[in-house]
Amino acid sequence: MEKMPVLKTAALLLNQLKLAQGKWISGEALSRQLQVSRTAVWKHICTLKTEGYRIDSATRKGYLLREIPDLLRPQELRGGLKTVRIGQGEIRYFERTDSTNLRAKAMAADGAPEGTLVIAEEQTQGRGRRGRNWFSPPGAGVYLSLIIRPDILPQEAPRFALLTAAAVAEAVREITTLETMIKWPNDILVGGRKLGGILTEVSMEMDKVEYMIVGLGLNVNLAREDFPPDLQEIGTSIQMEMGRHLHRLPLVRRIIERFEETYQEYQRHGFAPIRKRWQDFTDMIGRTVEVDAMGRRLTGEVLDFDEDGYLVVRENNGVPVRLFSGDISFI
Ligand code: BTN
Repeated sequence: MEKMPVLKTAALLLNQLKLAQGKWISGEALSRQLQVSRTAVWKHICTLKTEGYRIDSATRKGYLLREIPDLLRPQELRGGLKTVRIGQGEIRYFERTDSTNLRAKAMAADGAPEGTLVIAEEQTQGRGRRGRNWFSPPGAGVYLSLIIRPDILPQEAPRFALLTAAAVAEAVREITTLETMIKWPNDILVGGRKLGGILTEVSMEMDKVEYMIVGLGLNVNLAREDFPPDLQEIGTSIQMEMGRHLHRLPLVRRIIERFEETYQEYQRHGFAPIRKRWQDFTDMIGRTVEVDAMGRRLTGEVLDFDEDGYLVVRENNGVPVRLFSGDISFI
């Protein structure tokens, strides 16, 4: 009997179980299809079970795949991912890492191409905007970073945070039907509480962008008491909002697909259509806000998000100012 490489056999076996679509498939049929002994089939089944796949076995019936684990493994993520570039090359998967943005940066500096995806089940030093931490407990959220190499000038970079926020807000809305909103520049909110955040980091080369890391953190299957006390009032999760656990795989696939569509739209038609889409997800215009922008605090009314993705605020003295980054609180 011709032997196939071990890794390949496990992947092929899993594929056969999936193709059976909830029906039993005999050990003999699997052994024939994969050209390995029935003992080898059984060993691979045991390995899959230890990886979290729920597989029933019964004499005379064979094997039945009951459940795929809620893990964001590359082989699972890739299956059915409808993109051209993003997530189609390397997907670097970590059960635990310091920060996917840090890993992605190292890979990009080593020449990793556009579309490379870094994803983790847990981060020990998840990084948020303005030097904050991002709470990243195991298996409960989405922690991913994308490497992109857009042909843009540095001043266009802030638009990518907004572009990503629009893509994520749309994808989460589609999958969960939750009323996602965006707080400029890139907080994803539900019911005024923070569901997710985006951290874009840019590397410049002369006067153009060399690469950009787009990092996304999303709270998915967390209960209120899972959050640290300081986040319990301001944070939320999909599980808290929907009242049930959500399988992360389809959500992550949709986010990546939406990101690619939005990125392509930007490359073809510029920022205007994205700015329009973004406006559907915000109720900030006309509201009074306090902004902490690079150490400067100002209070005023939100007038607009301009064509560069800047926030335009009319200060209390009547003068409009354009801000490209900052922390907003509603007052
Ligand atoms: C924010 O402060 O709102 C941005 C949070 C971004 C967190 C994500 S989690 C995946 C990626 N890796 C990181 O270290 N940070 C981003």
